Amino acid sequence: MYINPEWRLLTIGDGDLSFSTSLWNNYKPQHLTATVFDDKQSLTAKYGDEYYQQLVHSGCQVLSGFDVTDQQSWGELKRNQYDVVIFQFPLIPAFGSEQEFKLQCNNFSINTLNRRLLRINLLNCFQYFLAENGAKLAFITSKDVKPYRQWNVEDALTLGTDIHFIGKVDFNINQFPGYKIRNVDRDKHVKSTQGITYIYSTELDDNIKDRPKAIKSQGKSCSICRTGVFYTDLDEKIHLASKKHLQMLQFEQQWLSYLQQEDHQDNK
Ligand SMILES: C[S@@+](CC[C@H](N)C(=O)[O-])C[C@H]1O[C@@H](n2cnc3c(N)ncnc32)[C@H](O)[C@@H]1O
Repeated sequence: MYINPEWRLLTIGDGDLSFSTSLWNNYKPQHLTATVFDDKQSLTAKYGDEYYQQLVHSGCQVLSGFDVTDQQSWGELKRNQYDVVIFQFPLIPAFGSEQEFKLQCNNFSINTLNRRLLRINLLNCFQYFLAENGAKLAFITSKDVKPYRQWNVEDALTLGTDIHFIGKVDFNINQFPGYKIRNVDRDKHVKSTQGITYIYSTELDDNIKDRPKAIKSQGKSCSICRTGVFYTDLDEKIHLASKKHLQMLQFEQQWLSYLQQEDHQDNK
C-alpha cells in the first residue's frame, strides 16, 4: 500500500487502533482521523486503550462508536477533508442470535450485507469524506478467499455510481509494524495477514500525482468469479456449469435485488 506523507487520512473500522497507530508512527501523514466501530468502553474492555492514548497524544483525532453507514454516529468528523479513506478487512459484526439476524437481514444473505457495508462505505467516502481538491482515493483491503472473494468487490460494489474500481495491490503487513489484524478468523486457508488492497476513485486520470500503481485483471475470464483466462470454449462451459459459478450467480442476483430496492427507496 502506497502512503504519501502529504495525505490527510481517515481510517474506518479499525479494530484495536493498531493499524492507525502504525500508519501514524511509520508514515507521519499530514493528518489522521482514526475511527472504530466499537464504543470507547467496549474498545477499552476488548483491547485496552494504549493505542487510543498514543494517537490522541500525537494530535490525531480518534472517533469511537463510528458506524460508516450511519451519519448520526460520525460525531465531530469534519466533512470532505481527506485525501484517502482506508478500510482494512471490513466485515459486518456477528449477529448475537438467529432472531437478531432475521430482524436485521431483511431477507438478504450475509454476502449481500457485507457488500452493502462496502458500497455504503464507498458512497460515503466520495460524498462526505474525501476532499474535492485531494487525491480522492478509497482503499479497501480484503482477502482473496471465500467468503470475502464472493463479495465481488472489483465489479459489484460501485454499480450505477460514478465511482470506479481502478486497481489492486497486494497488502504487505510488513509495511505496518505493530499492526495486529483483528477477528479475521473465518477462514483457515490463508494467513490472517494476507490480503489485497482494492483502490477506488471517481477520477480516472492516470496522471494524477502520486496515484498508486495498480494492476488490473486482463484476459477472457469469468468476471464475477474472477476465474480464467479460459483458453478453450470447453473450459469456459465447464466453469459456467460449476457449483462455484452457480453460487456466485446467486449472490449476484441477490445483490441486484438489493440494488433495486435501494434504488426504489432513493426514488420515494
Ligand atoms: C475483521 S474486523 C477488522 C478490524 C480492523 N480493521 C483490522 O484490520 O484489524 C472488521 C471490522 O469491520 C468493522 N465494521 C463492521 N461494520 C462496520 C460499520 N458499519 N462501520 C464501521 N466499521 C464497521 C468492525 O467493527 C471490525 O472492526
